[in-house]
Amino acid sequence: MTKKLFIKTYGCQMNVYDSARMADLLAPLGFAQTQTAQDADIVILNTCHIREKAAEKVYSELGRLRRLKDRKAQAGAPMLIAVAGCVAQAEGREMLARQPAIDIVVGPQSYHRLPEMIARIARGAGHALETDFPAEEKFDALPEHTALAGVTAFLTVQEGCDKFCTFCVVPYTRGSEFSRPVTQIEAEARRLASRGVREITLLGQNVNAYGGPGPDGETWSLARLLGRLARIGGLERLRYTTSHPRDMGDDLIAAHAQEEKLMPYLHLPVQSGSDRVLRAMNRQHGAEDYLKLVARIRAARPDIALSSDFIVGFPGETDADFEATLALVRVVDYAQAFSFKYSARPGTPAAAAPHQVAEDVKAARLEILQSLLSRQQAHFNARMAGRTLSVLFEKPGRKPGQAIGRSPYLQPVHVAGAAHLIGTIRDVAIEAVQPNSLKGALGDLRPAMRAAREVALH
Ligand code: 5AD
Ligand code: SF4
Repeated sequence: MTKKLFIKTYGCQMNVYDSARMADLLAPLGFAQTQTAQDADIVILNTCHIREKAAEKVYSELGRLRRLKDRKAQAGAPMLIAVAGCVAQAEGREMLARQPAIDIVVGPQSYHRLPEMIARIARGAGHALETDFPAEEKFDALPEHTALAGVTAFLTVQEGCDKFCTFCVVPYTRGSEFSRPVTQIEAEARRLASRGVREITLLGQNVNAYGGPGPDGETWSLARLLGRLARIGGLERLRYTTSHPRDMGDDLIAAHAQEEKLMPYLHLPVQSGSDRVLRAMNRQHGAEDYLKLVARIRAARPDIALSSDFIVGFPGETDADFEATLALVRVVDYAQAFSFKYSARPGTPAAAAPHQVAEDVKAARLEILQSLLSRQQAHFNARMAGRTLSVLFEKPGRKPGQAIGRSPYLQPVHVAGAAHLIGTIRDVAIEAVQPNSLKGALGDLRPAMRAAREVALH
C-alpha cells in the first residue's frame, strides 16, 4: 500500500524547488503526494523565516496539525509531522519544545537525510533533528529522478548568501554561498527538458554571484552557465532569480543582449532609494550605482521588464529617506515589484538598532509605495495592448478551452481556444489588458487588421 505525503510550502521559489526534491526523495520509500493533511501519513511544512508573519503562520498551522494528529491517532491512523526549511533551521530546538507534536525538524541543507530520519522515528527512537550544514553535499545525495513534469521548472544552481544585509536571516538559515557544478546543473536541465519542460528558472539566493566549477576546471559565471544551458534542445526559455546589484557582471548584462532564450525580465532588488538607509542595510551600493546599472542593462536590452523588492520602515528611515525611495522608483519605472514593512528578525544586526520605525508609519509608507508600484505595473501592462507577444502556454484556464501562459515579461496571458497548445510557444495578439494579466488571441493578426481583412474578404 502506498503511503501519503502532504507538503505545504511557504515562502520563496527555492522552497518550491526543495519541496519537489523532498517528494522525489521520499517517492522510493513508497510515499505518493496528496493534496490535504487529512489523508497524509506524513506532513512536511517547508517553512519561511524571512519576515515575522511568515514564521508565525507556521506555528498556527502546527497547532491545527497537532489536533489533526491526535484525532488520527485515536482513529488508528498515525501521522508524522516534519518541519523543514528556514524556520526549522533557525528555531529547530525551540520548536520541538514549543510544539511536542513535531516528529522531525530538518534544515534546508540536510533534507537529503529525511529517509533515515523517518526510519529512526519508525524504530521508536523519538524526535529527529538535523540542522547542521553537513559536510557531504546535499545535491550529490538527491535522487536523479524527478516527478515534476510541468512546462516550467525551477532549478537551484546556487544557495546561501555572504552579503549579510543587516535585516536578513538568509545568511544564517541558508548558510554561506555555494554553487553547484556546471555538469550537474546541465544534467538536471537536460532531464527536465526531456520530460517536456520548456522554461527553466535558475534559482539562487544570490544567483548572479554564481561561480561553479566548470567541466574545464575553471570557475564559470552565471552568464557562461546560461550560454551552456541555452544549447539544450527543447528548452526554449531561461530565467534566473534573485540577483544582487553588486554581482551583475558585464557578461551577464551582455547575455541579455545576445542570448535569445534568456527572457527580458530581471528581478533586481534595491530595497531602498536612500544612500543612508542602503549603507545601514549593508547593501554595498548607493542609489546612483543602481540607477547606472539599470541604464547599462537597458542599453543592452531596452525592453527588459525590471522588478525589485523594497523594505519600508527600516530602522532610522526618515520621511526624506522614504522620499528618496519613491524618487528612485519614479526613475526606474518598474514592471513589477514586491514591497514589505521592515520586520525585525532575531539575531540580525538591524533588529537591535535604535530608532525602530512605528508600525503606523511603516503602514502609511507601504501604502504610498505600493500604489506607485501598482500604477507602474498597470502602465507597463497597458503598453502591451495591440502588440504580439510570444506566449508559453502552461496550464488550462478557468473557462473551457482557455489556456494560461506567460509572456517573455512574465505577465500571465489568458487565451481562449488554446488548451490544446499547453507546452508550446505561440504568438498571441494582446487584445485586452487587466491589472495583473493580459488577454489575447492566437495568431499575430491584430484585431483591427483582422477586421479589415474580413471586410476585404466580403
Ligand atoms: N523585513 C522585511 N522584509 C525583508 N526582506 C528580507 N528580510 C526582511 C525583513 N527583515 C525582504 C527583502 C528581500 C525579500 C526576499 O524579502 O526585500 O529582498
Ligand atoms: Fe538577504 Fe541581502 Fe543575502 Fe539577499 S543579498 S539573501 S537580502 S543577505
